Amino acid sequence: MKVNNREYRTIWMDDQKVYMINQNLLPFRFEIFTVLDYRQLCRAIVMMTVRGAGAIGAAAGFAMALAFKEAEQTKKIDLPEIARKEIESTRPTAQNLFYATRRVYDAGLRSFRHAYDEAQQIADENAAEGRKIGEYGAELLSDGCRIETHCNAGWLGFVDYGTALSPVYLAHRSGKKCFVYVDETRPRGQGAKLTAWELQNEGVPHCIITDNAGAYLMSQGLIDIMIVGADRVAANGDVANKIGTFEKAIAAREFNIPLYVAVPASTFDMNCPSGSEIQIEERSTDEVLFQEGMTDHGEIIRVRISAPGSEAINPAFDITPARYITGLITEMGIIKPTEMEIHSLLVKAATGSNDIPC
Ligand code: MRU
Repeated sequence: MKVNNREYRTIWMDDQKVYMINQNLLPFRFEIFTVLDYRQLCRAIVMMTVRGAGAIGAAAGFAMALAFKEAEQTKKIDLPEIARKEIESTRPTAQNLFYATRRVYDAGLRSFRHAYDEAQQIADENAAEGRKIGEYGAELLSDGCRIETHCNAGWLGFVDYGTALSPVYLAHRSGKKCFVYVDETRPRGQGAKLTAWELQNEGVPHCIITDNAGAYLMSQGLIDIMIVGADRVAANGDVANKIGTFEKAIAAREFNIPLYVAVPASTFDMNCPSGSEIQIEERSTDEVLFQEGMTDHGEIIRVRISAPGSEAINPAFDITPARYITGLITEMGIIKPTEMEIHSLLVKAATGSNDIPC
């Protein structure tokens, strides 16, 4: 994706270092954050310097590769296993994190070079899958359509293109008029800060709405389709996504608005029978009690926005049951969120057979 006329990925690696767009500074500053070892990369995942299902997956793969490099240099043969545990404890809900550590760990048992190649491969696949999801999803978007999205499942949340926003980008580039209602997505504001910034970069008309405005806008006939991403999809089609998604799904059902979840095959977890078994990450309550923003003088500051002395809770994700989901937009086509369709998609992904029919 282009930022200031230069082509970027959200995260990338060379032989020595991993580089990422610092998502904590957006939309106020565009800076590249660099890490040298897997511990720093774990910290960047926890602090959400890099965030979003696919980007976390790529980061975890790169972290695993850095651990193999360190093990080779220091001759600490047990380091990759220790590192894998540390990486996997950073963000428990994101399935892509575990998918990537497993693949890179298995490859790294041969050599650091194999780990490195596998990590690069995961990042490349993620970018290519985003594009395919965009192609399939764009077919759902008619000229003039109005889309609501929650959180950020754009290219910042992946290596490139993204999932929920990729169909919008491809439809927009093909000349279709699209308008996006962006849920601000409290507490961290990924919609207001990241999705809005991405859409500006792409020149897509949009506006930011408060998290509680969705049902009202739907009732007024202003939303044609809702598209969101996912952090993990259970075998029965239940979906874990950013907190607030379930409420939107209930509202969308009330007003007969189709809800699509855009997701690569790597986000499916067939070892997880249903959404109730997905571990929901609890994050710091400071994210609820405080907000960060920029003053008119360009200073980034943090202010308390809640009654001093009151406590908060901060579950980062919720589960939307499969029955609320119209379809899953994948890199191999659009499927219904049923165990049978998910299973057959994954078999086709594993055997490398052709796209499934929509
Ligand atoms: O906590 P985050 O920002 O890493 O959350 C992940 C998300 O962005 C979403 O839940 C998203 O909608 C799907 S994955 C990009």
